[in-house]
Amino acid sequence: MSGDRGSRDILAEENTVDREKLVEMLIKAYWMEMETVMSYVTNSVNPDGVRASEIKESLAADITEELGHAQQFAARIKELYGVVPGSMDFKPQMDFLQPPAEQTDIPAIIRGVIQAESGAISHYNDLIDFAGDVDPVTEDMVIAILRDEQGHMREFEGFLREYEVEGLA
Ligand SMILES: [Fe+2]
Ligand SMILES: [Fe+2]
Repeated sequence: MSGDRGSRDILAEENTVDREKLVEMLIKAYWMEMETVMSYVTNSVNPDGVRASEIKESLAADITEELGHAQQFAARIKELYGVVPGSMDFKPQMDFLQPPAEQTDIPAIIRGVIQAESGAISHYNDLIDFAGDVDPVTEDMVIAILRDEQGHMREFEGFLREYEVEGLA
């Protein structure tokens, strides 16, 4: 790495420790997004019943957005001298977002989506905290992604509220 870069920059050699920590956090975020894509494909197809279509359409629309997040995280990993991992490194975490026993059990899916989104929100806040001190570019990118996840979570909280009000959840 060239010595004429400002030493404050995250790409500077003296910031290798921070940069590697950041790449590790970005890889975790990348996998969260990839697993969300899988889970949302599944749950945008499986549910049955008249009430399912709104949820399925919303999840189908979110797939593209989550994939876009995964691509942004991948690009940033590369920019920070990291390597985007291959699929054999993937370790699933979302046991809470598996197909329910009954495909009409929409509240189970809504709760799973809320848990996935709040997990992402929690990790992205950690990322923003860390990047805020060492890498404003990553901080800026993750702030925009965090806003998307907050939007997703609020939408699904609204869906859950509707089921609760009607005594269906
Ligand atoms: Fe996302
Ligand atoms: Fe999301």
